[in-house]
Amino acid sequence: MRDAADVLANVRRGMLPAHIYNDAEVFEAEKERLFSRAWMFVAHESELPQIGDYVVRRVMDNSFIVSRDQSGEIHAMFNMCLHRGMQVCRAEQGNASHFRCPYHGWSYKNDGRIVGMPFHKEAYGGEEGFARKGQRLLPAPSLGIYNGLIFVSMDPDAEPLEDFLGDFKFYLDYYTKQSASGVEVRGPQRWRVKANWKIGAENFAGDMYHTPQTHTSVVEIGLFREPKAEKRKDGNTYWAGKGGGTTYKLPPGTFEEKMNYVGYPDEMVERMKEQWSQEQVDVIGRDGFMISAASVFPNISLVHNWPKVAEGDDVLPFISIRQWQPISADETEVLSWFVVDKEAPEEFKKLSYKAYLMCFGSSGMFEQDDVENWVSLTNTAGGSMARRLLLNGRMGMLHDDSPVVQPLTEDEFCGPGVAHVGYGEYNQRHLLNEWADYLEKPAPVPANIHVGAPQVDGECSSETAAQCSSEKVE
Ligand code: FES
Ligand code: FE
Repeated sequence: MRDAADVLANVRRGMLPAHIYNDAEVFEAEKERLFSRAWMFVAHESELPQIGDYVVRRVMDNSFIVSRDQSGEIHAMFNMCLHRGMQVCRAEQGNASHFRCPYHGWSYKNDGRIVGMPFHKEAYGGEEGFARKGQRLLPAPSLGIYNGLIFVSMDPDAEPLEDFLGDFKFYLDYYTKQSASGVEVRGPQRWRVKANWKIGAENFAGDMYHTPQTHTSVVEIGLFREPKAEKRKDGNTYWAGKGGGTTYKLPPGTFEEKMNYVGYPDEMVERMKEQWSQEQVDVIGRDGFMISAASVFPNISLVHNWPKVAEGDDVLPFISIRQWQPISADETEVLSWFVVDKEAPEEFKKLSYKAYLMCFGSSGMFEQDDVENWVSLTNTAGGSMARRLLLNGRMGMLHDDSPVVQPLTEDEFCGPGVAHVGYGEYNQRHLLNEWADYLEKPAPVPANIHVGAPQVDGECSSETAAQCSSEKVE
């Protein structure tokens, strides 16, 4: 990447070289150094409720089969046949005990183990020529699950997922653990936008500032209980671990009253109270901050909002998870899931889905407003003048780098991490500082894998010796 040291230094002081939002070289560096290492969301366990269920998802340009095997265990396997490299599973989702390659017919169990090779004896001399034992579709280098959210890292030495998420787990629970049963998801809707992937991630992490301007019309048509979009400045932004988000400040009242205010029925509120820690309850009840949008580095975002779903005053909350899947420097595939508590009443699920579709998803009103900006920004960032421009990303910071408003104290906000009331690009800077840290480190060098070949000193097979010896071919 040209002038890498300058670019990273400027990003770290909140002055953003405009071309980082549309630059093929920067994108190559992101692929090599960031997406080769960070944890990336691929699916939710509720998409795989039955033995044999699978979905096919991409991690950058790698296709993975995410499956639930016969024993109920979740796997993520590189979707490339060990023979000549055909994509083994072509369907996007389904249920299967085995996957058979369409090219020459090698077949694999739904945990990835190879079990069938047509004309094995005639073509390879049987087990003596090609021992199937221990051969399997390549597993994702690292796999982690939190609250049913399945993540993959391309780095075999990735730190454990829960360590990576750190204190953001506290906030992730609001979206994905509202009862002992957890959540179920619907979707994903998928579509592509001609925008750089970082813009959406930054926006959802902390851009309360755009709401009064970009989403004026949504507020004006009366979709929300709060009459003025400016109300957002009373909320806070917080950053903890690898993620951060925004909140709304709610009118005074108990935890139960505040949850009712955004439209949760009493029975759901009761279950949340049982499920969450006292601090998680107090962020809402005692401190009065209702979680809203958030992002987890590098490329997933969460939404929680409560529009009116019909004429009148009644509002209803919805939750969505979305992934900003990078396609190129100027294109992103958006995957958007609707999320709802498994134990929620059926009527709530129905109306919450309606609320989600009205606001977000491919036809959502917010989505349309946002994407218009992001496409235009990306387009402009690709021009030669953008190479001369350092954007000002220092909102909330004085000239000596001290904050415009002091962070909230524990008495004001009992969630982990650091939080500020009002407008400020604190979270966008956190996200971009993580980005700079990743881009600074050389990429991991993974070992080569040689399928079914006689071993030579120093080479690796597709399995470790311990795994090989414990398996039998069926
Ligand atoms: Fe899959 Fe030949 S490429 S069986
Ligand atoms: Fe927006």
